Amino acid sequence: MPDVRHATPADIPVIQDVDRSLEQPVSEDDVLKHAIEGGRVAAALDGDNVTGYVRWEWLWDHIPLCVFVRVRPSHQRTGVGRALYAHTEADLAARGCDFWLSSTEETNDRSLRFHRALGFRLIGALSDLGQDSREIFMRKGLG
Ligand SMILES: CC(C)(COP(=O)(O)OP(=O)(O)OC[C@H]1O[C@@H](n2cnc3c(N)ncnc32)[C@H](O)[C@@H]1OP(=O)(O)O)[C@@H](O)C(=O)NCCC(=O)NCCS
Repeated sequence: MPDVRHATPADIPVIQDVDRSLEQPVSEDDVLKHAIEGGRVAAALDGDNVTGYVRWEWLWDHIPLCVFVRVRPSHQRTGVGRALYAHTEADLAARGCDFWLSSTEETNDRSLRFHRALGFRLIGALSDLGQDSREIFMRKGLG
């Protein structure tokens, strides 16, 4: 399984490079720094190369919600996403969380398949978020 560790501020440029590799909006320095300081960002490594990352935030101060899980196209389907979630779930369980949430656009079939494979179940959808398709929310129990 790929190595995963908590991200450090030194990872910010490479995390932003992962965003660019996926042609996604680049996360801002301050947002990443704040999340890293809270222990809410993990990075997957292939040697010194950061191949993907996960960032989560607190919903209503007590429910963890995955904001992004992103893996470089060159490393997708090699277990990086699975390793990032395993690391995060162990961390959340150690913090005493019973479950966590993730979400994805309804049209993101790859992400839906990924989340289903990892044991998430659909719990609802939000529309009118200023994006083309509904946002699907998913839940997974921990422990
Ligand atoms: C979704 C994403 C994070 C998955 O990461 P990944 O490292 O490629 O996934 P893994 O290799 O750990 O796959 C774990 C399981 O998920 C499922 N899965 C992952 N990608 C899949 C795909 N393209 N098609 C079908 N199933 C897939 C499989 O069951 C896989 O297990 P297997 O390879 O043993 O069959 C990655 O595709 C990605 O970064 N996508 C772009 C960003 C994104 O959409 N993020 C999610 C919303 S924030």
